[in-house]
Amino acid sequence: MKPTLLTLLSLLTLTNAAVFSPKGPKPPGLTYLYTVNITGGEAAPVGLGPRGYRVVVPIVGGSFSGPKLKGTVLPIGGDWALIDANRTVTADVRQTFKTDVSAYIQVTETGSTQPDGTAFVRLAYETGSEKCYRLNTIVAIGILKLTGNTLTIDTWQVST
Ligand SMILES: *[C@@H]1O[C@H](CO)[C@@H](O)[C@H](O)[C@H]1NC(C)=O
Ligand SMILES: *[C@@H]1O[C@H](CO)[C@@H](O)[C@H](O)[C@H]1NC(C)=O
Repeated sequence: MKPTLLTLLSLLTLTNAAVFSPKGPKPPGLTYLYTVNITGGEAAPVGLGPRGYRVVVPIVGGSFSGPKLKGTVLPIGGDWALIDANRTVTADVRQTFKTDVSAYIQVTETGSTQPDGTAFVRLAYETGSEKCYRLNTIVAIGILKLTGNTLTIDTWQVST
């Protein structure tokens, strides 16, 4: 019997099901939002308290750029970082963006260094700007890199 397109297709479906089902449902996609460079100022070593070693680093400025979003990081905000007994650094960042069309966006982000040394953050946005309003409800993640006193965060939006 010659294989028809239909039998080939159903074979493919069966193979896919066998390959993919143990891995769970199809994962969501990620859409690139922007990359931001942030320059930190003089750190304030709050010190070792009951929750770990706290150090506050102010944001002195920066810039961000992506396919639909670009502008500057205002010198309003900082990272209230906490370092635990395992040397895991947990970031607690607030940034204030001003876009090239003068929209103001408040950005909050939290996340920790992972056992392999990378640092992931989850981000949330707040704005009244009509142009950027969609940011209020998105789910975004970022990967953080520190070079000297410049922090770079590549940011993606979770999509279907
Ligand atoms: C961030 O810094 C890198 C390295 O200096 C540079 O290539 C990039 O253009 C900068 N991006 C923004 C948005 O400032
Ligand atoms: C340190 O890491 C170990 C192993 O990952 C974990 O069991 C322990 O709870 C961690 N301790 C702290 C203080 O985070």
